Amino acid sequence: MVEPFSEPVHITRPLLPDIEELKVMLESIWSSNQLSNNGKMVKQLELELAAYLGSEQISVFSNGTVALQIACKVLRLEGEVITTPFTFAATVHSLAWNNIKPVFCDIEEDTFNINPDCIEALITQDTTAILPVHVFGNPCNVKKIQKIADKYNLKVLYDAAHAFGVKVNGKPIAAFGDMSMFSFHATKIYHTIEGGALTFNNPYLKERADSLRNFGLRGTENVMEPGTNGKLNEVQAAVGILLLKKVNAEIDCRKKITELYRNSLKDVPGITLSQDMEGVTHNYPYFVIRIDKDKYGLTRDMLYEKLQQYNIISRKYFYPLCSNFQCYRDIPSAAESRLPVANRVADSVLSLPLHGRLAEDDVARICEIIKGMKP
Ligand SMILES: Cc1ncc(COP(=O)(O)O)c(C=O)c1O
Repeated sequence: MVEPFSEPVHITRPLLPDIEELKVMLESIWSSNQLSNNGKMVKQLELELAAYLGSEQISVFSNGTVALQIACKVLRLEGEVITTPFTFAATVHSLAWNNIKPVFCDIEEDTFNINPDCIEALITQDTTAILPVHVFGNPCNVKKIQKIADKYNLKVLYDAAHAFGVKVNGKPIAAFGDMSMFSFHATKIYHTIEGGALTFNNPYLKERADSLRNFGLRGTENVMEPGTNGKLNEVQAAVGILLLKKVNAEIDCRKKITELYRNSLKDVPGITLSQDMEGVTHNYPYFVIRIDKDKYGLTRDMLYEKLQQYNIISRKYFYPLCSNFQCYRDIPSAAESRLPVANRVADSVLSLPLHGRLAEDDVARICEIIKGMKP
């Protein structure tokens, strides 16, 4: 019998900059007397991130949600936008905040991403875009999605909140679609405590994106349109600059832990593990398992509760589906009968602890507990 952990095993722990290096950066900010408003650190971060993410253009924001809201404006989206219900609330809310009607599309059983084969049937004369999510950093079928977008003259805005550093056949994930949004929240593999970015290759879009994050100002006296306050500050940008040096090592650690989980859990009946995709450079942001209650003997919810008794914090990520939120469930496309795969997946997935500082022994112990629980 494996004993419960004496301290909670958290689902994630933030990547932290070296404190001495941060102090040097803070001294530089203090002596500049500029704490916000597109300062030196933000400009440096944008240059370094553009190079890391392989994007011609980038704008950083105070969080990923405001970045997505602004992206809808920059791309002039309106009417209806086809998206996935299997995502974080922010994806769909960003549409609603722009008075755009979300249209929910079912997902693929293996990747949990929007199913491109279901998109065309949802297109109407009001559709202006597709908003897919690279769920858990696994790239969507970017080729098929682009083909549909080209055929119907739709924009593609990717929610790449989880996909920092991911590549498809050597091509950066930011290279696909009209725009991608990355979240730099502290729970992400790379972060600026709170923050986010939009990447795109059209230089004309940057001027608008930067203006919209700064109240719609152009210069100091000209307000072109109703913007918002979506600015990243200098201290957060400094954290971002330092963490860019550490993110590759973090991804390497997470890959190792992912492999430990996969090796240890691969033969457990009723547990399906995520696998690497061919040609994809992964970033290992989450370790997600799927539970088949008939074969494993426990439901996902039972496993979740039992893990808690062992002081292991797992997460039902993404549950509930956005299409089942009170604010969206009356939309016709939100009907459960139209989203059978998404509903099945949301009821059976569980995210296990994964971060670079998770000890190998702890991973082994978590796996023993999961195996031992099977009735
Ligand atoms: C898929 C997805 N989209 C959007 C967001 C919103 O990002 P943020 O928390 O930076 O606002 C998140 C994350 O938290 C997310 O997981």
